[in-house]
Amino acid sequence: MKSVKVGIAGLGTVGSGTVNVLQRNAAEITRRVGRPIEITHIGARRLNPACDIGDIKVSEDIFALVDDPEVDILVELIGGTTTARDLVLAAIRNGKHIVTANKALIAEYGNEIFQTAQEHNVDVGFEASVAGGVPILKALGEGLAANRIKWVAGIINGTGNFILTEMQEKGRDFAEVLAEAQALGYAEADPTFDVEGIDAAHKLTILASIAFGIPLQFSKVYTEGITRITTEDISAVDYFGYRIKHLGIAKDTGNGIELRVHPTLIPKEVLLANVNGVMNAVMVEGDAVGPTLYYGAGAGSEPTASAVVADIIELSRALTVDQVERAPFLGFQAEQLSTDEVLSIEDVMCPYYVRLHVQDKTGVLADITRLLSAEGVSIEAMFQRDTDEEGYVSIVLMTHRIRESALQNALEKIAELEAVGNEIMRIRVEALDAS
Ligand code: HSE
Repeated sequence: MKSVKVGIAGLGTVGSGTVNVLQRNAAEITRRVGRPIEITHIGARRLNPACDIGDIKVSEDIFALVDDPEVDILVELIGGTTTARDLVLAAIRNGKHIVTANKALIAEYGNEIFQTAQEHNVDVGFEASVAGGVPILKALGEGLAANRIKWVAGIINGTGNFILTEMQEKGRDFAEVLAEAQALGYAEADPTFDVEGIDAAHKLTILASIAFGIPLQFSKVYTEGITRITTEDISAVDYFGYRIKHLGIAKDTGNGIELRVHPTLIPKEVLLANVNGVMNAVMVEGDAVGPTLYYGAGAGSEPTASAVVADIIELSRALTVDQVERAPFLGFQAEQLSTDEVLSIEDVMCPYYVRLHVQDKTGVLADITRLLSAEGVSIEAMFQRDTDEEGYVSIVLMTHRIRESALQNALEKIAELEAVGNEIMRIRVEALDAS
């Protein structure tokens, strides 16, 4: 039977993994698809010794793949959003199906790419764009399709999780651990994408669209990084029974959608709190199924290739089926996407952890609690410790559930008190208790 012809653009970490997995598992893949899948053309400026491409045609100009009439499926693994967008749109217009691992491309330009793909009756697979080898998009869009999804919460950046885990377990310094993550090859080319939450925001945008059937809205994700977290915070939250994780959270509140990436206190005993190192995990709460958890490698050559090749296999099976008869790009029919509003972070309601450094003198605590109470912030637990050489102590408190804007108002007034020093840390709390 005629083979499916694949062109691969980009032969970096994921590109070489894709070549290796397709070659190593060729016989098994043929049994699954019903015909062989063959790489016929690679677009790459340089070869990668991590894979043996034999006599596969190589072009330095990746756009040669777009014009190659043989190529059925173009696999975009170059990253970035400029050339990648041009490449993908040109390939779609030439009738090629697309598989990509590019989260930024889908989160920022997915609406345009899907519209163009629909017009040209081709499909786009992007499983590898979120949580690497964890098949969370398929689980969410197809496996859980019976459910109304209530919320999704995930550790979707391995670098950030590695840093927080090392800080927590070994008391290591933030900068030192980041350098190690870069050396291990997990961090993005620009590591601020990892530690400032941009990478996670790209992935959350995609997860939320498939969970709730909303258009991709990357610009509306509230994004806060982990760079201000200190080992003092990590040990203080431990005292209260929590761990700090950098979560992407998408919630259907009934009055709008919350889309937010930020450090989050979660109870130590929940499974997500025990996802350590570079591993990724996504928790999904559906109204029928209840809470579910998906765990695995979120980055790396072959784990990401696992998702890329799964998309190639799915598209290979469906090559002769019209796009409208295949699973919709975002799991919901394109004309049925909801217009539910994305809420501002100021409207989010949750409990908070607050840490202040204050001068240890009479009345300071009374001033702080008065300002909190004036905004309706109720304290659930509190402790004071560690007077430093300059006479400052740490006050750490946990609040009851309160609107973000109210807490923010109170903290701005507290920051103006003469006895309150340095910056004030506040971290949102999520129980993840499936309620
Ligand atoms: N920089 C990403 C991470 C790689 O650390 O998870 C996978 O997207």
